[in-house]
Amino acid sequence: MKADVAVIGTGVMGSNLARNLARESGRRVAVYDRDVERAQNLAQDFPEADFLVAADPTDLAGKLNQPRVAILMVNAGGATDAAIGDLAEAFAPGDIIVDGGNSHFRDTIARGTRLEGTGIEFAGVGISGGEVGALLGPSLMVGGSETAWQRLRPLLDPIAAKVGDEVCVDHIGTDGAGHFVKMVHNGIEYADMQLISEAFTLLRDGLGMTPPEIAEVFADWNTGELESYLIEITADVLDHVDEATGRPFVDIVADAAKAKGTGAWTAQVGLDLGVSVPTIAEAVFSRSLSSAVDLRAQGLRLAGPRPVAESSSLSPDERAARIEEIGEALLLGKVMAYVQGFHEIAVGAAEHGWDIDLGALAGIWRAGCIIRARLLDRIVEAFDVPTPPENLLAADFVREVADRCQESLRTTVVEAIGHGIAVPGLSSTLAYFDGLRTEAGSAALIQAQRDRFGSHTYARTDRPGTFHTLWSGDRGEVEV
Ligand code: 6PG
Repeated sequence: MKADVAVIGTGVMGSNLARNLARESGRRVAVYDRDVERAQNLAQDFPEADFLVAADPTDLAGKLNQPRVAILMVNAGGATDAAIGDLAEAFAPGDIIVDGGNSHFRDTIARGTRLEGTGIEFAGVGISGGEVGALLGPSLMVGGSETAWQRLRPLLDPIAAKVGDEVCVDHIGTDGAGHFVKMVHNGIEYADMQLISEAFTLLRDGLGMTPPEIAEVFADWNTGELESYLIEITADVLDHVDEATGRPFVDIVADAAKAKGTGAWTAQVGLDLGVSVPTIAEAVFSRSLSSAVDLRAQGLRLAGPRPVAESSSLSPDERAARIEEIGEALLLGKVMAYVQGFHEIAVGAAEHGWDIDLGALAGIWRAGCIIRARLLDRIVEAFDVPTPPENLLAADFVREVADRCQESLRTTVVEAIGHGIAVPGLSSTLAYFDGLRTEAGSAALIQAQRDRFGSHTYARTDRPGTFHTLWSGDRGEVEV
């Protein structure tokens, strides 16, 4: 019996997605890997999946019912291009090639364009949830034509994560839309992880708490508004003890964060689109700074306060109040990271002609993906009204969280600065927050300077139009 769908690339993510498809979709699955032995091993290890193993792309094409569907689960970049090239030669018009990797949305758009003449459909699907998600139910963000979506839906619905009877898969828009929102998902993930790590540092270096004590705080936070997958795993990680040394695991992990690039893309695309995403960008910069080992070694000589744990000087009540403040600062930081991400998606959608339903997107992020969080229920509710807000910032719950938590964010950042504890995520979030609520800030002076040195013109507050002051002449004003 031929297969109905193929998974190309049998690394951890590909294997798990293939097993998920075999188990849930009711279709036979073919697997292919350039390392044929790896695909054969997968089939041997999981005989219940009844995988068909292909020896090469032509063999694969022969093993699939037409029109064919193949899901690429290979590394983004050159490997994806090579796999598409191989398949394009073996496949026929009407077949669909799906890229399930973390590809840049611009690459996805370009690949779709390149395949246009062949009649082969191309879809870029953002898949989130890590290894476990791929196996048990990821969140799936589909970019591609309506035809491709209709063909893929019966395959993807059964394997996606579920919230009640709602499935975490949606057609986000054409061409690169799925990979665009996956990129922003990862940007929010970076911001969330950075803010969580700063909260941890404040509890450890500011309040002198131990990792197991902080694990309890995170476990407690995970029972309330902050409930999320990342808070949950943070509690788990902080509770873990290194077998070799008996020390808290987090203390033996080198303090240098790595990144594969999707957070940087979110920041770069924010810059390209003129959208301010400082919490996301700071999360990327912080990882870079953490890994600049030599620079940090030199930095150790610089003056300034060193973190001094205050635990001894605080009463239990004061300590509890400080923990609550840090939790509120974290919540507002998280909400603001979503505000930034959703703003970038809205502007990106307008730029690329995608009609992205922000409420539906929040809906499919409620399960399966890395940023799944209780907060997303409130985002879904905010957009599920007859006249949805223009952007997330306009949602009532955002104002409610801001009203309640802004003082805590402010106090937390001030405390951190006073103690010399770096909190780039929280402090840039506060600057963003204050920037949003400033009626007249520093930009007027920048415009005046631009006109002064380069005749770049300015708008006036009192009447419409574009103006220039004749700075080198009589300083009269002309309308341009
Ligand atoms: C997901 C994740 C995943 C990402 C990893 C690692 O949604 O399942 O976002 O796509 O690749 O989290 O990312 P970094 O290596 O860049 O931290």
